[in-house]
Amino acid sequence: MKRVWVLNDLFVEEAYRNRGMAGLLLNAAAEFAKTTDAARIILATQASNTPAQSLYESRGYCRDEAFYHYTLSLA
Ligand SMILES: CC(C)(COP(=O)(O)OP(=O)(O)OC[C@H]1O[C@@H](n2cnc3c(N)ncnc32)[C@H](O)[C@@H]1OP(=O)(O)O)[C@@H](O)C(=O)NCCC(=O)NCCS
Repeated sequence: MKRVWVLNDLFVEEAYRNRGMAGLLLNAAAEFAKTTDAARIILATQASNTPAQSLYESRGYCRDEAFYHYTLSLA
């Protein structure tokens, strides 16, 4: 069974945004995933976070329309 990597909390310091940094980080994550022979990278973002959605979609990430995700909070 192949690995699935979870990409959490992608963040670029505000002063360095809109210079392609996140794109480079996503490229590095994809390269790392390929070198570990992973099947895919998964991530989640807030429904309101349209900049992040544009970023991911521009880098080939597809929004999952087929599954609902559930969380049981234990706090
Ligand atoms: C989302 C975030 C990581 C983008 O980082 P960044 O280094 O500014 O992004 P880049 O410069 O690499 O932009 C790449 C693409 O992202 C999209 N994008 C980035 N900022 C955007 C904005 N404010 N509005 C719309 N699209 C945006 C564009 O598609 C852009 O491609 P383009 O330059 O060809 O137009 C950054 O804004 C951030 O750290 N935000 C706070 C944390 C966060 O929301 N992280 C995502 C959690 S899921």
